[in-house]
Amino acid sequence: MWRPRSKGGTVTVQPLPTLETERLVLRPLAPGDAAAVRALGGDRRVAEMTLLPHPFGEEEVRRWVEGRLEWAAQGKSRPFSVLLKEDGALVGHAGLLLDRDNDKAGLYYWMGVPYWGRGYATEAARELVRHAFEDLGLGRVYADHVARNPASGRVLQKVGMSYEGCRRRDFKKWDRFEDLALYGVLAEEWSPAATSASPR
Ligand SMILES: CC(C)(COP(=O)(O)OP(=O)(O)OC[C@H]1O[C@@H](n2cnc3c(N)ncnc32)[C@H](O)[C@@H]1OP(=O)(O)O)[C@@H](O)C(=O)NCCC(=O)NCCS
Repeated sequence: MWRPRSKGGTVTVQPLPTLETERLVLRPLAPGDAAAVRALGGDRRVAEMTLLPHPFGEEEVRRWVEGRLEWAAQGKSRPFSVLLKEDGALVGHAGLLLDRDNDKAGLYYWMGVPYWGRGYATEAARELVRHAFEDLGLGRVYADHVARNPASGRVLQKVGMSYEGCRRRDFKKWDRFEDLALYGVLAEEWSPAATSASPR
């Protein structure tokens, strides 16, 4: 879920790096990604499990991209477009919400429906957890997902996160109250070996 929780404060904002995994490139979100983000993120099956606006028209996606870039410019988040190495296709979006005051980051991601089930979310999430611990030196990475979305829970388990509980009736999406499953991993529990594990 994309859910800003950072507080304000003085932050030296570094340009975002481009990260690479075996099959993916995670490069900083750019305004030119809007059409591809809209084509994938506009699918109801993606919107249903995220905080993406729906319907996702041209104006909504423009504002969504601008909002993400603004947060990044303030040092509050690190938003990445997830691209396939083999052909450069944009297949999803993933990132970290930074909370420097509390030495932690929130992990979030979504993949376009045509790309589900290939291990891409796991591969991207695993790299972002590594980035948070190894490159940013943070102490905790957390994530949450709609409880009736077990695929996302599976991704979090595969990247080494532990289930930390459930916030019941946490928010309302399309007239339905949703429970949120909470996951997290601490730097001292995380093993760099997890980064070289198979994407699946
Ligand atoms: C959840 C989501 C990110 C998964 O992306 P993905 O690239 O298909 O994920 P992966 O292929 O890396 O892994 C998915 C895992 O979930 C499992 N899975 C899929 N459907 C499942 C289900 N209904 N119940 C349990 N597990 C399920 C897969 O089998 C796989 O686990 P495995 O490797 O142990 O077999 C993608 O479906 C998505 O973007 N959904 C909509 C948005 C969303 O939910 N974002 C997350 C918000 S917190």
